[in-house]
Amino acid sequence: MSTQMLSNNTHTDKKILKSEDLPRHIAIIMDGNGRWALKRYLPRIAGHKAGVEAVRGVVESCAKKDIEVLTLFAFSSENWRRPEKEVGLLMELFVTALGREVNKLHKNNVKLKVIGDRLGFNARLQKGIANAEDLTKDNTGLVVVIAANYGGRWDITHAVKKLGEQIEAGEINAADITPELLDSALSLTEYPEPDLFIRTGGEKRISNFLLWQLAYTELYFTDVLWPDFNDAALEDSLTSFAGRQRRFGQTGEQVELKKGA
Ligand code: IPE
Ligand code: IPE
Ligand code: MG
Repeated sequence: MSTQMLSNNTHTDKKILKSEDLPRHIAIIMDGNGRWALKRYLPRIAGHKAGVEAVRGVVESCAKKDIEVLTLFAFSSENWRRPEKEVGLLMELFVTALGREVNKLHKNNVKLKVIGDRLGFNARLQKGIANAEDLTKDNTGLVVVIAANYGGRWDITHAVKKLGEQIEAGEINAADITPELLDSALSLTEYPEPDLFIRTGGEKRISNFLLWQLAYTELYFTDVLWPDFNDAALEDSLTSFAGRQRRFGQTGEQVELKKGA
C-alpha cells in the first residue's frame, strides 16, 4: 500500500484506490452536529437531522465500494448527560429515521445491527430496533452497525459478566479465559476488527467508543463536521488509510517481505 495505489491523475480519477487497499470495516464517531447547527444559528437538533443525511450518503458509498462493515457511533452511554430536551429529540429522530430508512436499506441488501445497552431505550425504540434487525437479518451486503447507548467500558464489563456467569455455572474455569474467549463475548465479535477509525468534528479522542476492538485500528481524525462529511471527505480518509503500513508489532521489513511473497 504505498505509491502504487495512486494513479497518475489523482485529480480526475476518483477510483484511485484498489479494492485490496480498502478497509473491510470502518468505524466512525460522527461528531460535530451541534457545532454545524450553531454555525447556522439553528437549534442543535437541526444538526442531528443533517447528520442523518450524511449517514445515508456514507452508507451508500460504503455499499458501492463493497466495504463489509460500517460501525457508526450514534449515541454514547455518556450522552444521557445532555439536556433532557436534546436527548428526547434525539430519541425521536432515531425512531423516525429507522422507520423511514429501513425498507430502503433492506432493498439494498444491507444488514442492520444495533450494539449497546438497548434496555435503556423506550419500548417504541426497542421495538423499532428489533424489527429492523429482524427484517434485514438474512441480507448479505454491507453490515451497518449502529452503536446506540454504547460505551466501550460497558461492552467489556458486559462481556466479563457473561464469562463470570459461565464460571459460576461451572461451564468454564477462570484459567480458560484468553483474549479470544473475552473477545467472543464482546460486541462485533462476528465481524473483522475495524481497519479504519474516523472521527469527524476535530476532537482527537475515543470518547469511550470501541476500546478493545480498536487495538490495531488505523486512526483518522478530520475537522470536517459530520453533516458535511461527503464522498470527497470519505475518499480522503480512504486515501490516508491506503498509505499506512500496518505492522501489527512486526518490523516494516517483515511486512514488505510478506507482501512480496
Ligand atoms: C455528535 O454530534 C452526535 C451525538 C453525540 C449524538 P454532537 O452533538 O456531539 O456535536 P458537537 O460536538 O456538539 O458539535
Ligand atoms: C461521541 O461524541 C459520541 C457520538 C458521536 C455518538 P461526543 O460529542 O459525545 O463526545 P465528547 O463528549 O466530545 O467526548
Ligand atoms: Mg460532540
